[in-house]
Amino acid sequence: MSVSKAWDMAHVRFRAPDLSVMDRFLNAFGMVEAGRSATALYKRGHGTQPFAHVTELGDPAFAGFGIQLNSVDELEKLAAHENAQVEMSNEPGGGYVVRLTDPDGFAVDALAGQTMADILSMPRGQEWNQDGRYSRLNDPKRPEKGPSHVLRLGHVVLGVSDFRRSEAWYKDRFGFITSDEIQPQPGIAIGAFMRCDRGDRPCDHHSLFLLERPAPCFMHAAFEVANLDDLMVGHDHLVAQGYDHLWGVGRHYLGSQIFDYWRDPYGHEVEHWTDGDQLVAADGGGIGTIPELMGVQWGMEMPPLPEEVGRG
Ligand SMILES: [Fe+2]
Repeated sequence: MSVSKAWDMAHVRFRAPDLSVMDRFLNAFGMVEAGRSATALYKRGHGTQPFAHVTELGDPAFAGFGIQLNSVDELEKLAAHENAQVEMSNEPGGGYVVRLTDPDGFAVDALAGQTMADILSMPRGQEWNQDGRYSRLNDPKRPEKGPSHVLRLGHVVLGVSDFRRSEAWYKDRFGFITSDEIQPQPGIAIGAFMRCDRGDRPCDHHSLFLLERPAPCFMHAAFEVANLDDLMVGHDHLVAQGYDHLWGVGRHYLGSQIFDYWRDPYGHEVEHWTDGDQLVAADGGGIGTIPELMGVQWGMEMPPLPEEVGRG
């Protein structure tokens, strides 16, 4: 039994020297303001996360991420296990936070008791005419041009120095379940896509992906958007705004998402995705190969970036 159970990712935290530059990018990426101070910018999606992205003034860096727990009770158990304090959060949504540091030094905030945000207006999901079934009748598709509509932070991907050590750290504390373990050769694991344990309630194929790398590094943070049309319209918008496109559009094997990867103005990789696999706890896990990790079912092949090994 783990000390607590993660319900979802909560937010990612970066540092940047100019909050207005990050703000412009995040607006074009499809996020909206959740709050700001003289030294921090909070952005949210259109779903219930009170904030999904925070930028603090400073030299460009990844500064950690947040995991939402099921209850304050579980947060207190986690704090007792870690001999850490339960603090009141003064960030959007409030609630309580326990600040941890993972084996590679990444800052991990465990959160509970936040006041969730009101859902903001999203594009209307329309039917698809497919497989000889015509359910979209007299209902033209006219997705509005402009940014995608980010719904929520979906997953975080970290390069870790010792996969088994980090896997145990996160599983012991947050109850993550392996959906696909990455094995270049049978029995040799270098990473895993892990999901939350929500029992019978479905959740994303992965909320956290850990991949062993020569040195610990932030790899990417991935934000769910409303739907495929919303992702494609947002792609065109980011291109028109001159932002740095990395990889996509395509469909992954492991998790099956339709993906589109970008770099923010300070070089951090962020992903738009939609239509990922949903699993319950009893669905268990499998093995993923390197070709499955790096390949696509359709769409743009992964660009040759020698320093990168998979994105997930
Ligand atoms: Fe991803």
